[in-house]
Amino acid sequence: MSMIIFSRFILFFTITTSVLTALRTWAASPALLHPDELKALEEIASTLGITKLNLGYGDPCDIKKLKIDVSQDPGSENIIACDCSFNNSRTCHITELTLKTLSLPGKLPPELVKLPHLRWISLVRNYLSGTIPMEWASMPNLTSILVGANNLSGPLPAGLQNFKNLTVLAVEANQFSGPIPDEIGNLTSLTRLNLGSNQFTGSLPTSLARLVNLEDFRISDNRFNGIIPSFIGEWPQLKKNISICKRTERTYS
Ligand SMILES: *[C@@H]1O[C@H](CO)[C@@H](O)[C@H](O)[C@H]1NC(C)=O
Ligand SMILES: *[C@@H]1O[C@H](CO)[C@@H](O)[C@H](O)[C@H]1NC(C)=O
Ligand SMILES: *[C@@H]1O[C@H](CO)[C@@H](O)[C@H](O)[C@H]1NC(C)=O
Ligand SMILES: *[C@@H]1O[C@H](CO)[C@@H](O)[C@H](O)[C@H]1NC(C)=O
Ligand SMILES: *[C@@H]1O[C@H](CO)[C@@H](O)[C@H](O)[C@H]1NC(C)=O
Ligand SMILES: *[C@@H]1O[C@H](CO)[C@@H](O)[C@H](O)[C@H]1NC(C)=O
Repeated sequence: MSMIIFSRFILFFTITTSVLTALRTWAASPALLHPDELKALEEIASTLGITKLNLGYGDPCDIKKLKIDVSQDPGSENIIACDCSFNNSRTCHITELTLKTLSLPGKLPPELVKLPHLRWISLVRNYLSGTIPMEWASMPNLTSILVGANNLSGPLPAGLQNFKNLTVLAVEANQFSGPIPDEIGNLTSLTRLNLGSNQFTGSLPTSLARLVNLEDFRISDNRFNGIIPSFIGEWPQLKKNISICKRTERTYS
């Protein structure tokens, strides 16, 4: 009899201990990047021209950067930010990706769409070529695109109005060409628009008048012609000076 009670006690003790251990492990395990996004990071890195990506080094949301083997120039930035509130704080999704001044030689990755919670992408000061992938327009949460100081070329995407929720579009110091599409006037959430130091031509579309939330607008060092639309002086929020100089100055009459 006492033997049965004793073994029941042992059983109870064993079960309690293992439940407690499991609970403790569960509570201590850190939130991890969603496996689909981990896989997407490999594709994104490859398109950006990153050859030595080490995803075994630690969870990107935990170490808050991409473990890559590239020269870390002064001023380089490598930042991943995540929202880890999913699945009872067990799953993270990437909300920000900044890879700045890292001499990346590839292209802007269309695979970014596989990070549907991404709000901010900055790939400033690299050697990226090609143009802005239209695929990015299907990312409802993408509000900031910063791709200045690269080797991007071609016209701005014609379907620009599909980038509905953009507040920041900074494409300065690239080789973009052609006219500014009329549709840019549909991006009414824009607070910052930097088109400076490219090869843009034509006249500034009057649809720009609709961008009443602009605080910072830069178009200098392009090949625009025609008249500077007068509404530009009337944007209520505008804080930065619009400097129109060098090549532009010559063609304005
Ligand atoms: C929650 O986790 C499961 C298993 O990893 C995953 O399939 C699912 O997509 C996650 N949900 C969210 C919202 O991340
Ligand atoms: C956009 O972000 C919100 C809030 O983080 C989220 O609920 C929603 O699922 C995201 N959209 C997509 C397509 O993931
Ligand atoms: C994006 O824009 C759509 C349509 O304009 C809007 O319904 C949605 O709430 C916006 N999403 C975010 C995250 O701002
Ligand atoms: C910039 O892109 C052009 C093609 O668009 C290419 O010929 C040139 O070599 C690139 N320059 C650099 C520095 O990558
Ligand atoms: C976008 O802008 C163009 C030209 O300004 C306009 O004709 C069109 O109706 C707009 N589209 C949307 C979806 O707002
Ligand atoms: C804009 O630039 C002019 C000339 O450089 C300067 O006098 C003026 O104070 C500037 N305005 C603002 C708001 O910075």
